[in-house]
Amino acid sequence: MQKQIYTRVSAIKGLAFNSLKQLISWNSDFKVDQPQIDCQHEGIFNLAVEVSELSRDQAGNDKLIAIFDDFGTILDEHFRYEEDMLVEIGYPMLKDHRVEHNAMLSELEFIRQRLSSRVGERTFQEKGLVVLSFMLGVTVGHILHSDVNYAQYMKRCKAHS
Ligand SMILES: [Fe+2]
Ligand SMILES: [Fe+2]
Repeated sequence: MQKQIYTRVSAIKGLAFNSLKQLISWNSDFKVDQPQIDCQHEGIFNLAVEVSELSRDQAGNDKLIAIFDDFGTILDEHFRYEEDMLVEIGYPMLKDHRVEHNAMLSELEFIRQRLSSRVGERTFQEKGLVVLSFMLGVTVGHILHSDVNYAQYMKRCKAHS
């Protein structure tokens, strides 16, 4: 029974990874037309693919933790940069945007702690799926939705100036 469950979970993970990789492979259509931000977003997408590959391949936990840490640092720096820019342009939805950033950083910290902790390891066996779903949330869930909203706002401002 246990074995069947694991086979099924692995199959789901394989499917999840393949469709996820297509979704989170960087594409120039994803640009918000602000060169520094686009460069940071591209880096985030590329690292998300790398983290997803490691979690799919059940790479050593230490490697997964290390790259997930890097992802956290890059994400944190990017959010600060982006929020400063949103203050500068007077983005009216800044407060909500900041709430989304903070929620992602809290989730990242929670996952990071669970990845490094030996306690509760048995309940966190499918960490690959947890990591994949977080990557999907940051890239498709946030960058391709919430960030696109401010990109549209910037476009409207430019058109009226
Ligand atoms: Fe962003
Ligand atoms: Fe953002």
